[in-house]
Amino acid sequence: MVFSCLLQLLSPCFAQHTISPGQSLTGNQNLTSIGDNFVLGFFTPGNSHNWYIGIWYSKVSVQTVVWVANRDKPLADNKSELKISEDGNLVLLNKTQHLIWSTNLSLSSTSANATVAEILDTGNLVLRAVNSSEFLWQSLDNPTDTWLTGGKLGLNKKTNKTQLLTAWRNSEDPSPGPFSLELDPNGTRQYFLIGNGTNQYWTSGVWNNHIFSRVPEMRSNYIYDFSFIDNENESYFNYTVKDNSTISRFVMHVAGLVRQYTWIESTKTWNLFWSQPRDPCEVHALCGAYGTCKQNLPFCTCLQGFNRLSQKDWDLDSAVSGCVRKTQLQCQNNSLTNGQQDGFLELTGISLADKDSHPVSVGSAEECRSACLRNCSCTAYKYGSSCSIWFNDLFNAKQDSSDNLPVVCLKLAAAELANINKPGKKNRVTGVVAGSVAAFVVVSVVVLGLICRCHMHESRRKLKVQQGSLIPFSYRDLQNATKNFSEKLGGGGFGSVFKGTLPDKTVVAVKKLEGLRQGEKQFRMEVSTIGTIQHVNLVRLRGFCSEGTKRLLVYDYMPNGSLDKLLFQEGSTIINWKARYEIALGTARGIAYLHEKCRDCIIHCDIKPENILLDGGFCPKVADFGLAKLLGREFSRVLTTMRGTRGYLAPEWISGLAITPKADVYSYGMTLLELISGRRNSDHSENAKFGFFPTWAAKMIVEDKVLSLLDSKLEGNADVGELNRACRVACWCIQDDENARPSMGQVVQILEGVAEVTTPPIPRSLELLAYNPENIVFFLESSGSTQPRSKALSSTSSANSQ
Ligand SMILES: *[C@@H]1O[C@H](CO)[C@@H](O)[C@H](O)[C@H]1NC(C)=O
Ligand SMILES: *[C@@H]1O[C@H](CO)[C@@H](O)[C@H](O)[C@H]1NC(C)=O
Ligand SMILES: *[C@@H]1O[C@H](CO)[C@@H](O)[C@H](O)[C@H]1NC(C)=O
Ligand SMILES: *[C@@H]1O[C@H](CO)[C@@H](O)[C@H](O)[C@H]1NC(C)=O
Ligand SMILES: *[C@@H]1O[C@H](CO)[C@@H](O)[C@H](O)[C@H]1NC(C)=O
Ligand SMILES: *[C@@H]1O[C@H](CO)[C@@H](O)[C@H](O)[C@H]1NC(C)=O
Ligand SMILES: *[C@@H]1O[C@H](CO)[C@@H](O)[C@H](O)[C@H]1NC(C)=O
Ligand SMILES: *[C@@H]1O[C@H](CO)[C@@H](O)[C@H](O)[C@H]1NC(C)=O
Ligand SMILES: *[C@@H]1O[C@H](CO)[C@@H](O)[C@H](O)[C@H]1NC(C)=O
Ligand SMILES: *[C@@H]1O[C@H](CO)[C@@H](O)[C@H](O)[C@H]1NC(C)=O
Ligand SMILES: *[C@@H]1O[C@H](CO)[C@@H](O)[C@H](O)[C@H]1NC(C)=O
Ligand SMILES: *[C@@H]1O[C@H](CO)[C@@H](O)[C@H](O)[C@H]1NC(C)=O
Repeated sequence: MVFSCLLQLLSPCFAQHTISPGQSLTGNQNLTSIGDNFVLGFFTPGNSHNWYIGIWYSKVSVQTVVWVANRDKPLADNKSELKISEDGNLVLLNKTQHLIWSTNLSLSSTSANATVAEILDTGNLVLRAVNSSEFLWQSLDNPTDTWLTGGKLGLNKKTNKTQLLTAWRNSEDPSPGPFSLELDPNGTRQYFLIGNGTNQYWTSGVWNNHIFSRVPEMRSNYIYDFSFIDNENESYFNYTVKDNSTISRFVMHVAGLVRQYTWIESTKTWNLFWSQPRDPCEVHALCGAYGTCKQNLPFCTCLQGFNRLSQKDWDLDSAVSGCVRKTQLQCQNNSLTNGQQDGFLELTGISLADKDSHPVSVGSAEECRSACLRNCSCTAYKYGSSCSIWFNDLFNAKQDSSDNLPVVCLKLAAAELANINKPGKKNRVTGVVAGSVAAFVVVSVVVLGLICRCHMHESRRKLKVQQGSLIPFSYRDLQNATKNFSEKLGGGGFGSVFKGTLPDKTVVAVKKLEGLRQGEKQFRMEVSTIGTIQHVNLVRLRGFCSEGTKRLLVYDYMPNGSLDKLLFQEGSTIINWKARYEIALGTARGIAYLHEKCRDCIIHCDIKPENILLDGGFCPKVADFGLAKLLGREFSRVLTTMRGTRGYLAPEWISGLAITPKADVYSYGMTLLELISGRRNSDHSENAKFGFFPTWAAKMIVEDKVLSLLDSKLEGNADVGELNRACRVACWCIQDDENARPSMGQVVQILEGVAEVTTPPIPRSLELLAYNPENIVFFLESSGSTQPRSKALSSTSSANSQ
């Protein structure tokens, strides 16, 4: 038996971690590191039929490749061999014994039959002399798209070789794509993201021995230690993971983003917790030629009149191959007599990179147009105060909703224009949306903290009819009703709320919105949508005012105020357990209605006790829904910079992941903990005792000690069954991975007792990320400002004063 094992090297008899001279790795054989952290073997990415030698995590059930040997030389089958060649190098040979890949060292003759390759527990594949621990070669020095602990990302000054991360070409092709992360070749201590070899589109900012200046969120990084080493031979960063039981990875993503993930064993998923740049449209030429980028999914679409060049690439998360004309321009074929002259399509709401444009000194839009028409290489022009034209392929087109944007005119063949303008077809202008809209789905996508994506197109059409149910007020009406805004009920990042009485004696709450940038028409449209949403657990919108730059909303008045006052204010009525449970349930029903029952999903984005109001009978009503849509970008900016709100924000707000209804579930979970405990999660005096309260709470819940979480004011008077349910559901709601969180509908069912709830795991990011004693502000733009808070607020107020 032993003999046969020795013969069939690497047989299942024992886990092998080295290849010695005379041995080889082939087929489904693999090497496993001593501690069973990493595996080296042949693999085929996704549905591809190409074979590669790679390294992946042994304990991660989703095969996650961290290194590839033959990344741009795929093998056609697994009948290839990885072995030590006679000269001592590690080599990969294909079926016909051709050399595909090699460590390619010039070794001395003494190395013959005297080297061994080994996969280490750090994920490092090394080549060393049989009797030596010194590495002749290591895979860590030749990273592909993943930066592993112990790896150096930097510059070898002796060889001038840079060690950089290069993204895969697409999610099934490990060959080097256009995006890379590398140390500033000029020697400053900062990283650049580079597209297509030369186009720098992001910088980390300079390292100050603690953080990179443009990555302030590193301050609350509890996962990594970075250090910078600079000597006569080399300069590089390396890092260690503080808690070595955390499996985390740092990777250059196919779509040009640099990202960090941690593995969540309980849900068997990678949790994305950091990603840059925040705005994927900053990635150089992300959508390729004639593609256009927007900040939410699908990021890339083709300009009108264009098709995807390679559907396959687009399907595999990479749009960089871009788009091609459906109909060739006539320009080159002037000899054709029947050809109609090319024309232009106006692209509204789209901008092109000015740096790529060429100025033409002409005096009118018409002359600008002719200048572009005359030149066959000209593909677009823009006439604002002056004329700019673009030559050849257009890159970096973006959706842009800025006001007064000069319209970009795109050159198209006459036949194509006729096609676009054909009656019955959707009208020309929309630019991006029409044409190819199928999803360019980047796995676990980043959207610039934008914006609860709510699809309201449908409902808008429907709602025109019902607009009558909302009362349009004049500003003067509301001034009178509120006695010139004299009785303030509350305030926040989005505006203040005043009490008012209408002429018919109805008491109302009037919200004066701040930081609204959209025009009147859009405002009316959004407001009429909000106006149709009615549910017993939602505060009803009665009317609105839109006059000049003033925007106000008029709501039903809630006599018992907001939940935060009841819970946290000294001397307020003590709400008993039964009432609390009803508040929890009612609130959940209200949010579930927003997510699931109304025609288009509405993500609230700002669930917190301040936004849960109580009517005369202490029935909870969720306030401020729809504001995220109404305020657009400004909303997320204010939200993520507001002190009070921070504790309720799901990790994806910070990581830049797409915001889904599960973000509300997270905030609801945090709010529920406060309702149960009667204390602020972010209360520092309490934190001193418990650490971050939710972390401690989660431990108590997992250990079945829920009574210790109950508000001491209730003196233990609570239905333990209900308490247990509420606590468990709260803890499920605040899981890092949104897939692990229940839907709001499930929360309702659990609280109603219709569905069961199991013991939740402790959310990891609570320990790693959320504990943020300095109240560090995370912000959405990769801006280098050291005062993000004041910046955000001043931009709000300047918008307001416009
Ligand atoms: C490695 O090979 C062994 C034996 O062939 C096999 O049992 C095991 O599943 C393989 N591991 C991986 C991760 O492929
Ligand atoms: C090669 O791959 C095929 C398809 O995955 C598999 O069925 C076969 O067992 C592999 N061959 C060896 C020698 O592992
Ligand atoms: C092996 O590689 C050589 C050179 O790249 C190539 O010509 C040959 O077709 C390959 N053989 C197989 C079976 O893939
Ligand atoms: C090995 O290195 C030499 C130069 O050092 C280079 O010319 C050759 O292409 C390399 N071979 C492989 C297989 O990488
Ligand atoms: C290496 O070992 C093999 C068999 O063990 C032998 O045939 C070969 O000649 C050796 N090569 C060298 C360069 O010593
Ligand atoms: C390695 O060391 C062992 C014993 O220490 C010795 O027998 C063997 O010859 C050495 N091998 C080489 C290649 O030096
Ligand atoms: C490395 O680059 C620097 C500056 O670009 C140059 O001065 C130096 O000679 C180069 N060294 C090698 C080994 O190529
Ligand atoms: C490197 O420094 C030179 C001279 O200071 C400058 O011209 C060049 O733009 C710098 N390159 C980068 C990538 O910053
Ligand atoms: C990338 O570089 C190649 C060669 O320099 C050039 O032809 C191509 O237009 C560039 N693409 C982009 C998107 O910059
Ligand atoms: C730089 O390299 C030389 C030669 O390899 C070595 O002697 C020296 O110790 C190295 N310096 C540092 C700081 O590692
Ligand atoms: C980085 O590498 C240096 C030199 O090998 C080592 O002293 C240091 O501990 C490493 N730092 C980290 C954070 O891994
Ligand atoms: C983590 O580090 C400790 C101390 O350095 C070590 O004893 C332990 O084996 C490590 N655990 C893992 C999983 O690497």
